[in-house]
Amino acid sequence: MISLTLDGRAIQVQPGTNVLQAALSNGIHIPHLCHHPDLRPSGGCRLCMVEIGGRPNPAAACGLLAEEGMAVTTQSERLTEMRREIIDLFVSDHPLRCVTCDKNGVCALQRYAYDYGISETSFDFELSRTLYQDDNPMFVRDHQYCILCGRCTRVCDEIVGANAIEISGRGFVSHVATPFDWAMSDSTCVFCGNCVQVCPVAALMPRGRIGMGREWELEHVRTICGYCGVGCGIDYAAKDGKILYAQGFPEAVVNGEFLCVKGRFGWDFVGNPERLTRPLVRRDLAHRLGLIDDPFSLPEESVFTSRIGVENFVPVDWETAVDIVAGQLLGTVEAHGPDAVAGLTSARCTNEDNYLFQKLMRVGIGTNNIDHCARL
Ligand code: SF4
Ligand code: SF4
Ligand code: SF4
Ligand code: FES
Repeated sequence: MISLTLDGRAIQVQPGTNVLQAALSNGIHIPHLCHHPDLRPSGGCRLCMVEIGGRPNPAAACGLLAEEGMAVTTQSERLTEMRREIIDLFVSDHPLRCVTCDKNGVCALQRYAYDYGISETSFDFELSRTLYQDDNPMFVRDHQYCILCGRCTRVCDEIVGANAIEISGRGFVSHVATPFDWAMSDSTCVFCGNCVQVCPVAALMPRGRIGMGREWELEHVRTICGYCGVGCGIDYAAKDGKILYAQGFPEAVVNGEFLCVKGRFGWDFVGNPERLTRPLVRRDLAHRLGLIDDPFSLPEESVFTSRIGVENFVPVDWETAVDIVAGQLLGTVEAHGPDAVAGLTSARCTNEDNYLFQKLMRVGIGTNNIDHCARL
């Protein structure tokens, strides 16, 4: 372990820990914008400057490895002035529309502008980036909000490996771009939305979230993604019972903050009016079993519409459905033997469900005909 002091407080950290991470994990907040704990440090924003005992100039804490005996100062008049000037520079090229901004309340730039009392810039104010790119169904890119922290490009390179975006140009024309500013769908983007997740401001926003509610009005529900067996942790943000967006969260042991396209954007089936919510029995079978008198009359309930040919099905309760399935399975086994039956289970079930299902097939029915849709 390495021993050092932070603002006079003795701490110990693992070798290879940078000073910013050492401070954050010990409850000392050093302002930072370009740093993300899962990404390599870039040192771009300079907001995390700290003073080191015995060194004349401050250094960026995110790019500085903790050393034995190091004495770090995270708060001083000089540092406060430096940070105020840096925030002032960010604000000089950023539309301060916090009152209507969807990131209001969770925006890192807003937080630091508040902390350091920067309500307006002291520099000439002219937005250098005005591009608004609405070129895909998943998220929009509003470059006027971008602070060029580079988190999105690094996550796309280091975590996703897609390398779909880079910071293009120099100086005031710099902006996050696909090659030749192609539409996202023409790039190597896989639409995982991990760039959206790590963006500290409102430059990258999930489409379904825009204009749908302020952050403090949203309810957050954590669950496990049902799409595949990896079992990523997902945080759904919902308002009035409707999901607005999905995100990862640092405490999710499998995936941390990162998700694939299905987990992040493939949740709209949840509120789809055509979603099946009750078991359905084929109309001819329902008639044979005496559940309906007239095999040709249309059901009164019309929620199950054209997609599944509802006129061919009758909604029943779960108990009836389970009885029918059990009766049909037993009848088939008696007539043709257990290997006339096969079971297909789902990645949407839990491990425990799948375990029980294979037990049912192997021990209950007596067949090894069992398979699984490995991915949807
Ligand atoms: S991105 Fe942040 S600082 Fe910018 S307008 Fe939105 S809340 Fe305000
Ligand atoms: S959605 Fe994923 S692949 Fe596409 S640019 Fe963002 S991080 Fe890269
Ligand atoms: S889009 Fe967001 S994450 Fe990417 S550089 Fe701009 S502010 Fe940073
Ligand atoms: S967080 Fe260290 S330079 Fe940006």
